[in-house]
Amino acid sequence: MQRQSDRPPIKVGILGATGTVGQRFITLLSVHPWFTIHALGASSRSAGKPYAQAVNWKQIAYMPSAVKDMVVQECVPEPFAECAIVFSGLDADVAGDIEAAFRSADLAVFSNAKNFRRDPHVPLVVPLVNPSHLSILRQQQALHSPPLEKGFIVTNANCSTTAHVIPLHALEAEFGPIDTLMVTTLQAISGAGYPGVPSLDILDNVVPYISGEEEKLEWETRKILGGISDIDSSEGGRVLQEFDMHAQTPLKISASCNRVPVTVGHMMNVSVKFSRRPPPSPQQVSEALQAYRSEAQLQGCPSAPVQTITVHDEPDRPQPRMDRAHQDGAGVNVGRVRQCPVLDIKFVVLADNVSIGAATSSIINAEVAVLKGIVAS
Ligand SMILES: NC(=O)c1ccc[n+]([C@@H]2O[C@H](COP(=O)([O-])OP(=O)(O)OC[C@H]3O[C@@H](n4cnc5c(N)ncnc54)[C@H](OP(=O)(O)O)[C@@H]3O)[C@@H](O)[C@H]2O)c1
Repeated sequence: MQRQSDRPPIKVGILGATGTVGQRFITLLSVHPWFTIHALGASSRSAGKPYAQAVNWKQIAYMPSAVKDMVVQECVPEPFAECAIVFSGLDADVAGDIEAAFRSADLAVFSNAKNFRRDPHVPLVVPLVNPSHLSILRQQQALHSPPLEKGFIVTNANCSTTAHVIPLHALEAEFGPIDTLMVTTLQAISGAGYPGVPSLDILDNVVPYISGEEEKLEWETRKILGGISDIDSSEGGRVLQEFDMHAQTPLKISASCNRVPVTVGHMMNVSVKFSRRPPPSPQQVSEALQAYRSEAQLQGCPSAPVQTITVHDEPDRPQPRMDRAHQDGAGVNVGRVRQCPVLDIKFVVLADNVSIGAATSSIINAEVAVLKGIVAS
């Protein structure tokens, strides 16, 4: 992507700019047609140093020259005051307080951390699925004390959640509610950040446990695939909105998560049962997935993939090493769509956990917010 746009550049900041997700933000934003990197933040270990000295650069793409001499800032609002958008790739141990302080300073935060995903006024948005949930932001701003004009927090999902909700949403859009979902993940080591899982724990091995991950998949999927309902507040009959968590057609989910010796690219084996009888055939499911177009793409978000879901016909695809870079990791890959003898249909999903699983999702969320006029451009 080249920086070619009639829009005046929109200044953005990156918190956690030295981390795995932060580095992917830098790679993507350095060539973004609308956004220009204005400020970088990380821990006090990095603050005060030129970015090239502070970071342990691990991207395949070379470090963009524009950021090499930028001085890394402490993660406090003042150096980011001119940013219309602040992206966060902060460690969850510190993201809560820092992101809340940025919101209170009336800054728009797009976060990858888990801290606010369960907040009833914070949208959990996978941009290729539920950008409509951004409508809750007015309520988040109004309920903040004091009320905010520009500041808010938008979160994107856990990297595995993101991978499977995209095909699941495409199927619900075509065939109606999913009733039951079984998912088993094969998650890359980059999902744990850098340096992540020690090599002696993961080489020649599979670790059948990732702390908190199964609960995230089960809970976040319901918030993302569910809708938003109006409720009457006890305070003066004011109409508030709440996430319905897919309550109208309760969704049973069981997730099992494994760490595997792959550098980038989460795979998941998914089986689904539909509410409708008879269920769609594997051929109908393949066609619906391939035909799905996201609202973000239709609205003209420059980072949205042209093909949201690529369905592979070969029996041994997708594979992390061969398919994760397809469309710069901005879409998802599906394969092996077939009948499930226990539920209805089963298939494999692959997604780049650092791109659409993290940084790319945040960036498309911000693009949608610009197009909807939620962020000043
Ligand atoms: N990796 C993935 O695939 C993925 C996918 C989805 C979501 N996420 C989420 O995204 C976030 C970042 O993940 P990551 O994999 O990029 O982690 P990471 O590689 O460990 O990077 C963490 C970043 O947080 C900064 N940081 C740590 N302590 C800080 C402090 N006290 N004050 C300010 N900054 C501090 C680090 O700065 P220093 O370099 O100065 O220490 C670094 O920039 C996490 O919340 C993670 O759960 C990750």
